[in-house]
Amino acid sequence: MIPQIERDLQHTYKSLSDAERQKFLGGTILLTGSAGFIGYYLTNFFCRFRAELGLKKIICLDNFMLGAPTWQANFTGDKHFAFEKFDVIRDDVAAIDGAAEANFVIHMASIASPTFYRLHPLETIDANIWGLRRLLDFYRDKNLAGLLFFSSSEIYGDPPPEHVPTDEYYNGNVSATGPRACYDESKRFGETLCKVFAQVYDMPIGVVRPFNNYGPGMKLNDKRVPADFAKNVLEGKDIVILSNGAPKRTFCHIADAAAGYLKILLHSRYDYFNIGMDKPEISIAELAEIYRAAGAELLNYRGQVRYAVSDDKEYLTNNPQRRCPVLDKARRLLHYNPTILVDEGVRRFLTFLKEARA
Ligand SMILES: NC(=O)c1ccc[n+]([C@@H]2O[C@H](COP(=O)([O-])OP(=O)(O)OC[C@H]3O[C@@H](n4cnc5c(N)ncnc54)[C@H](O)[C@@H]3O)[C@@H](O)[C@H]2O)c1
Repeated sequence: MIPQIERDLQHTYKSLSDAERQKFLGGTILLTGSAGFIGYYLTNFFCRFRAELGLKKIICLDNFMLGAPTWQANFTGDKHFAFEKFDVIRDDVAAIDGAAEANFVIHMASIASPTFYRLHPLETIDANIWGLRRLLDFYRDKNLAGLLFFSSSEIYGDPPPEHVPTDEYYNGNVSATGPRACYDESKRFGETLCKVFAQVYDMPIGVVRPFNNYGPGMKLNDKRVPADFAKNVLEGKDIVILSNGAPKRTFCHIADAAAGYLKILLHSRYDYFNIGMDKPEISIAELAEIYRAAGAELLNYRGQVRYAVSDDKEYLTNNPQRRCPVLDKARRLLHYNPTILVDEGVRRFLTFLKEARA
């Protein structure tokens, strides 16, 4: 295993309490969207700590619409692990060996990068609505301990200044017809489905609204800013900002965020949470400078930061100006406590990429 991912996974593992870890004992976990960024991280987490957690089986599903990964080959031959090509929109989960016995289900299937979900708007809507609905129907009379739906902080749209930082009770400022609507609105309706199924069938559904994750597993051609900058640094090219650099975000390393996701899953009752990092809120220009400095320190990087216009004419349409979570609810109810500040997180991510290519 790459040394940095081992350190990151350990960080996530230690962020769970003993009582939380024990809930996995004897469990079967089913994950959709496992070939994606967060799928990579959570699958590696479950495989790395399968024995310590006492997991019975890890079932990973993905339709590989953005390409099939190769990393899962590390786990082939492990009888506790299955990775299958599966489309949540049309394939039958009952046909998957062990799926009916799953205690924990994590529904991540849905392209997260705006550039790519705009190329696949109907598939994005379908994965978040019909794919979710089919899972909910299948599991409503099974013995589930937790089902986690990946919504998004994008359900808040572009909040006015008085709603930034944004808590879970802000209802959003979202265009129903803009170029991001296929994603934002299907996440919103997915949340409605979760709420109604929890009410009608008493299901232990957790909903997470992630805020800008980055780190191991993120594909460098993914067209999200942390991936773009990492790619620029690794290739020794200038860091290119495709906006005026002013939009502000907080960035959450996946080693912290994953602990939040698992805590919601293990909470085992209906609720919804922001998961991310609440400080520092920085501009894209400041993030570029963090990548430049970390690249210089770790990879002898000599590039500069410059500005350009994206070929994608919708790149900046409805792009929120500020995105920053209020995490009080997750801190209070889940004891979620992210600690990796963005300077350190970017160094961790670049270290991982350096070790992965060595
Ligand atoms: N990464 C973030 O910062 C972030 C922020 C907010 C929300 N999310 C949500 O978290 C989840 C995971 O995000 P990610 O960054 O790993 O995304 P990703 O785009 O890297 O991966 C998504 C995966 O889902 C798969 N998929 C898409 N449609 C499918 C279908 N019909 N059947 C089976 N597989 C399908 C894709 O092949 C891909 O492997 C997504 O639901 C995303 O919307 C992520």
